[in-house]
Parts: sequence; structure tokens; C-alpha cells
Amino acid sequence: MRNKVTKAIFPVAGLGTRFLPATKSVPKEIMTLVDRPLIQYAIDEARAAGIKEFIFVTSRGKGALEDYFDHSPQLEAELRKKGKDDLLEALKSTNMESGAIAYIRQHRALGLGHAVWCARRLIANEPFAVILPDDVIAAETPCLQQMVEAYEETGGSMVAAMEVPVAQTSSYGMLDVAEDHGRIVNVQGMVEKPAAGEAPSNLAVIGRYILTPDVLRNLNKMKQGAGGEIQLTDAIAQEIEDGRPVHGVRFTGQRFDCGSKAGFLQATVAFGLARDDLRDALQDFLKEIMHVDQAAQ
Ligand code: G1P
Repeated sequence: MRNKVTKAIFPVAGLGTRFLPATKSVPKEIMTLVDRPLIQYAIDEARAAGIKEFIFVTSRGKGALEDYFDHSPQLEAELRKKGKDDLLEALKSTNMESGAIAYIRQHRALGLGHAVWCARRLIANEPFAVILPDDVIAAETPCLQQMVEAYEETGGSMVAAMEVPVAQTSSYGMLDVAEDHGRIVNVQGMVEKPAAGEAPSNLAVIGRYILTPDVLRNLNKMKQGAGGEIQLTDAIAQEIEDGRPVHGVRFTGQRFDCGSKAGFLQATVAFGLARDDLRDALQDFLKEIMHVDQAAQ
């Protein structure tokens, strides 16, 4: 029986400069898709996968994120009084059990690998998940749950994987595939943001990981990698060098890159269309503007 994955790290220290001026005072992870902040999607996915402890690696200016998970007795009492049960229910999904949530500060922006390493003392000697809230994945079975199920078969370290167009391979961690079993691939190497034309495949790492504590030990020794940052990809690649297994999981679902404006807008439209209370109005509007757009051409 494998150790259950019950802890997840959420690296949320980034400045979100791509969304300035909004992110001048609002943490990127609090920006909303329809009516839920990005971080709520990440938390819901983690919960569905059986995560019980939530570790946020934050930085200066992320206070709103910490407040978001606090109970709000006044607001709850008000909604109860007015009989607004649906809103009360929505509010409850943001509440965290006491002690289930921890905040660690990343004092310097030294990269994703460094952010994960900052949480090492809270992980100790267990497998753990990492979720990058910028990557929002709409799926019938939430992506991390798909990975936990695959991990029960494979063990080792695991990344979510998705085919990307060749022109985009230098924006991702890219996998060098040893054996392709369809849903699961055995990985024999990983490169963070390879130069154009140098990616070992077109299978990219998407922001969901299940990692063994060995990866944290590797991070102790990691030097600066791509972009001058300490890269998580390099610490996972070290596992392969040391003869330990790393797998990629081709998840089922649609991934939105909410770290980019276009991706964020696409996610907003897709999640809007998925909602019974918004679908008709949004659909009519989209048809209308598409029509006007076509007529203008
Ligand atoms: C990070 C990882 C990269 C991964 C990507 C997925 O990069 O370093 O390996 O492919 O997330 O979104 P970032 O997008 O933060 O530069």
C-alpha cells in the first residue's frame, strides 16, 4: 500500500505582472473566473483528490489571499438572516478547517523550484502534490484525482502532461519519453523551456505534480536553471538520473492557461457557458457579436 497523498503545495508568490495594473493590489490568484477566484478552483480540485493539508507559498502583498480562507461570521449571519442559502453554501466552500492551511513566505523570487523547497519542513517524508493555480483544468474527474489514481499504480514522481504545438514548446517543461503507454508515459528526461527546435517531444508539463520527498532533497542542491531560476523541472529530472521512476499522465480535460490574458478570457467564456444561470445570455451575446464581427469583414 502506497502512502496516501494528503498534502499539496500551492506556489502563489508570483507578482502577476502580466495582469498589471489589476495585480497592483489584488493577488493574481484572487482574480475571478465568473464568480470564483482562481485559487478556489485549485482548492476544490485538491479536495476532490483527497488533499487534507494545504500549503501556500506566498510573498509580500498576498494578504487578500490569506483573508479569503478565513471564516466570515458576520457575512454568514447576514446571509442566514436573509435566507440566502445558496450564497451561504458558496461561502462555505471557501472555509478551511483550523490547522488545515499553512502559509510559508518565499522571501526572494528565485523560481518555482525554490518556492516548493520553501515548504520542505511541512512536507517531511511523504509524497506530496503541487498545484499551479494559473493552470485551470475543466474535467469531469478533476485532474489531480486522475493523477492520484494513476500514482496508485505507478508510484514514483508524476507530472500532468499535454501535447502542445511545436511553436509553444519553449514556454513549458518538456518531456523526453522513454515508453508511451497512452495515458501514462515513462519519462527518461525533462527540459525546462528548451530553445526552439530542441524539445525532446511535444509533450509538455502542465501545473500538476505528485512528487516524492526525494525531489525536495534534490532541490537542496539545485543550481540556477532556465531563466536564471531554480527549476522544479530540473529537480524532477534529477530523479531520473538517480534511477527513480518519473511518469507523465495525459489527463482528460480542458486546460486553460490563466497566466495569460487570452487564456484567462477563454476560461471566463468556457466557465460562463458551463453555468446554467448564465449560458443563454452569454450564448446570445457571443452569437450577436460574432455576427457583427463577420458582417464587418
Ligand atoms: C511552469 C513550469 C513549467 C510548466 C508550466 C506549466 O512554468 O516551470 O515546467 O510547463 O509551469 O504551466 P511557468 O509557466 O510558471 O513559467
